[in-house]
Amino acid sequence: MTLVITGAAGHLGRRTAERLLDLVDPATVVLVTRRPAELADLAGRGADVRAGDFDDPASLDAAFAGGERLLLISTDAVGRRVAQHRAAIDAAVRAGVRHVAYTSLPNPVAENPAPVAREHRATEEALRASGLAWTMLRNALYAEYRIPEAQAALAGGAFPHNLGDGRTAYVSREDCAAVAAAVLAAGAEHENQAYDVTGPELLGAGDLARIYGEAGSAPVPAVALDDDAFAAGAVAAGVPADIAGFLAGFGRAVREGHLDQAADTVQRLTGRPAIGVEEVVTGALAQA
Ligand SMILES: NC(=O)c1ccc[n+]([C@@H]2O[C@H](COP(=O)([O-])OP(=O)(O)OC[C@H]3O[C@@H](n4cnc5c(N)ncnc54)[C@H](OP(=O)(O)O)[C@@H]3O)[C@@H](O)[C@H]2O)c1
Repeated sequence: MTLVITGAAGHLGRRTAERLLDLVDPATVVLVTRRPAELADLAGRGADVRAGDFDDPASLDAAFAGGERLLLISTDAVGRRVAQHRAAIDAAVRAGVRHVAYTSLPNPVAENPAPVAREHRATEEALRASGLAWTMLRNALYAEYRIPEAQAALAGGAFPHNLGDGRTAYVSREDCAAVAAAVLAAGAEHENQAYDVTGPELLGAGDLARIYGEAGSAPVPAVALDDDAFAAGAVAAGVPADIAGFLAGFGRAVREGHLDQAADTVQRLTGRPAIGVEEVVTGALAQA
């Protein structure tokens, strides 16, 4: 079975590729990226590294040739992703791929105000309509994004948030990669399944404030703000206005309970417990 990973030079793509090369014969692994030179080390481990860009659909024919199962890693081109992902799905069909796993978001319904929900929903719909077997890997919000949040809170002496009383189960990229690699390496049992890929526990603003304070050995009380005040604070701290609004949208999604999934997918598919925010943040701050 030839296994393809797109976006293989991104953070998640590279880690998934590394995990997959530990699980299967490297001769069966195809890594597709816009930046092949960055994967020279994985080519050295026996993977077939190929150039491919969703913005250049013709490049995907050679990139996906011979592939049977493919991990489609959602791109970072927010706003343009539906066309990109459709191009990748169409190319997978042309290449004779039979199963595509896609990195989505939990609960990508119309009511979910997370700013990326619409694009993930549209991609899931396109994949379901493609006739291919599919797996939705609905990755929760990354635990790694809590590292700069913790650092800012410690620098400012408080943790401003717009999470209200909402809670979510932040997941480490490491676990997202381990789950994706497990799905690629498995038999057909994950076909036509949607999995929430989450961290081990639901955390609210108070939990995060405690974790950040303990990691930095300084109190960082949580300060609840509404969306506008949260975004304005981010802008005042140097975040571009569109990004500040984007971040506020995720906080609103958590506050309104749209991202309150806590699943056992990591444990079930990898055989080990999911990594928590505490481990990710404490580890990063200890190294800083
Ligand atoms: N769950 C979360 O909290 C969260 C947070 C941020 C992002 N995400 C999503 O998860 C994805 C993976 O996360 P990450 O941390 O690995 O992000 P990242 O390091 O920023 O990687 C961006 C990814 O987009 C791919 N990409 C960009 N333009 C592309 C194009 N034209 N054609 C094909 N691929 C393209 C890149 O592939 P190459 O560079 O190898 O070509 C790379 O895999 C992100 O792209 C985003 O969709 C999730």
